[in-house]
Amino acid sequence: MYRSFEPKGASLGLPPRWKPEKWLDRLAAFPNFIAVVEGRVIGHAVLCPEGDSAEVAIFVHQDSRRHGLGKPLLNKLKNEGQRLGLRRLWGITEPNNVAMLRLAVSLGFVLSAEPGEFYIKFEQRTEAIRRRAYEIYLTRGGGPGREMEDWLQAEGEFFSVSPSDR
Ligand SMILES: CC(C)(COP(=O)(O)OP(=O)(O)OC[C@H]1O[C@@H](n2cnc3c(N)ncnc32)[C@H](O)[C@@H]1OP(=O)(O)O)[C@@H](O)C(=O)NCCC(=O)NCCS
Repeated sequence: MYRSFEPKGASLGLPPRWKPEKWLDRLAAFPNFIAVVEGRVIGHAVLCPEGDSAEVAIFVHQDSRRHGLGKPLLNKLKNEGQRLGLRRLWGITEPNNVAMLRLAVSLGFVLSAEPGEFYIKFEQRTEAIRRRAYEIYLTRGGGPGREMEDWLQAEGEFFSVSPSDR
């Protein structure tokens, strides 16, 4: 995909103009997702964690843009970030990269004060489950003795919900 990708260096020098293999080798340590159609890679997304946050980057081949591929790829990165228990995802591109910035905003990312930068913060898994368990407790009318049941139900819901719905 990167050999025929245009424009090369589309986003802050990426994908690299020369030897994309070296760049991909460095990314191999991170979670990568690809979109494949008829055996051909047409989209690539990578999450680069550092501490409790991670940088996101997405690339869709020019022949396949505006076909709704970038969105599920970025959503995959969001879900992976949550699965890894990260607190924040961020990305940076040229301030005039309308396609990337609109895509990010469409999935709940916020534009930061730094032009071209966007981020999203996650509620931690345990916090989300605790909040849901409390809702279940209130819905069943409160009262002691079933805290574990409430917690298990909340946890079950959290893990059974389709990641794309979270
Ligand atoms: C940014 C990029 C990944 C988007 O991929 P895509 O598959 O074309 O995006 P989608 O078709 O899923 O579009 C999702 C949303 O993004 C926005 N969007 C995508 N392309 C757009 C464009 N050319 N102009 C305006 N908005 C655009 C829209 O909000 C769109 O939703 P809509 O179709 O309902 O209006 C792609 O343009 C790309 O690879 N660009 C070059 C590399 C790059 O800049 N990567 C960013 C690195 S961080």
